[in-house]
Amino acid sequence: MIVLGLESSCDETSAAVVRMEEGRREILSNIVASQIEIHRRYGGVVPEIASRAHIEAISGITYQALREAGIALRDVDCVAVTSHPGLIGALLVGVNFAKSLAFAHNIPLVGVNHVMAHVAAAYLEYPKLEPPFTALVVSGGHTSFYRVDSYTDFCEIGSTRDDAAGEAFDKIGRVIGMPYPGGAAMDRLAYEGDGHAISLPSPALSGDTLDFSFSGLKTATLNYINSTRQKGEEPNHADVTASYTRVIVEAIVKKTDEALRVTGSRQLVLAGGVAANSHIRSALEALCDKRGIEFCKPSLSLCSDNAAMVAAAGYFEYLAGHFADTSLNGSSCD
Ligand code: KG4
Ligand code: ZN
Repeated sequence: MIVLGLESSCDETSAAVVRMEEGRREILSNIVASQIEIHRRYGGVVPEIASRAHIEAISGITYQALREAGIALRDVDCVAVTSHPGLIGALLVGVNFAKSLAFAHNIPLVGVNHVMAHVAAAYLEYPKLEPPFTALVVSGGHTSFYRVDSYTDFCEIGSTRDDAAGEAFDKIGRVIGMPYPGGAAMDRLAYEGDGHAISLPSPALSGDTLDFSFSGLKTATLNYINSTRQKGEEPNHADVTASYTRVIVEAIVKKTDEALRVTGSRQLVLAGGVAANSHIRSALEALCDKRGIEFCKPSLSLCSDNAAMVAAAGYFEYLAGHFADTSLNGSSCD
């Protein structure tokens, strides 16, 4: 079956056409119009500007996705759109566009949870993957563990109590002069520094919890940078980045180990934009190897926001009969 996916929850407008069949998945097109250049001068996403940019892009990229896939709208069996969580104005652009398209052309419509869509990216590249399994979503807005009970039912078993890992990378990246978003540049710079140069607190909360807190780590790192600058020196950016990355990676590995023990899963899915981080990927690979767990880590292009993952999640909502109608609304909440 052919699913048209639409994504507009934050700063990427995306449309994708995906063929989903049992045991076989094929991405026919996956167009992403990134707004990063537009928001860069503000050091972060400006919601109102994001909504306007989505409006300008969505129609063009949808037809581009159909053209690239070599199909017409009449060939589409389901329109899947991210309906929550995200920036409300941005979400509404995708939701209203999807509703118009679906109802004008009489195509079934499903609303998709953006976080579940990140996890569903794994189904595209691991066609044999089936729930139950454990998922770790690390993105600009989430750092959470899920027990994935079925294709459409998740149970959050741990999360960050404040910032997400992506926000934490971007904030320190900004302070050391990296353009927004600094996550990918910090990934590269961390190889050039000493991960033990600066002592920083772990974002893994102690005790019997799978939760994280990044605020203490962020404050400690900012204090180190500011106190070094007050002495008239510039901190070594590579050492700051390597030390910061090391404590984040160690915390993620520790909590993932605990999450796998709690759930008893034999499979781990890594998802979200920060899942592109090479240090996190290789550390979790080593953990899974050691524990004999299958590690499912989608390609980098499927980790960051894209509509192919929305189409994949939408396919399972369709199979479960979770159809939306013209009352479908966007929501900023999970
Ligand atoms: O999932 P995503 O595209 O958007 C949200 O749903 O939030 O994630 C974006 C986040 C940004 O914070 C970005 O800096 C981060 O993913 N990111 C990375 C890397 N690539 C993207 N963080 C660390 N290392 C990377 N290689
Ligand atoms: Zn995302």
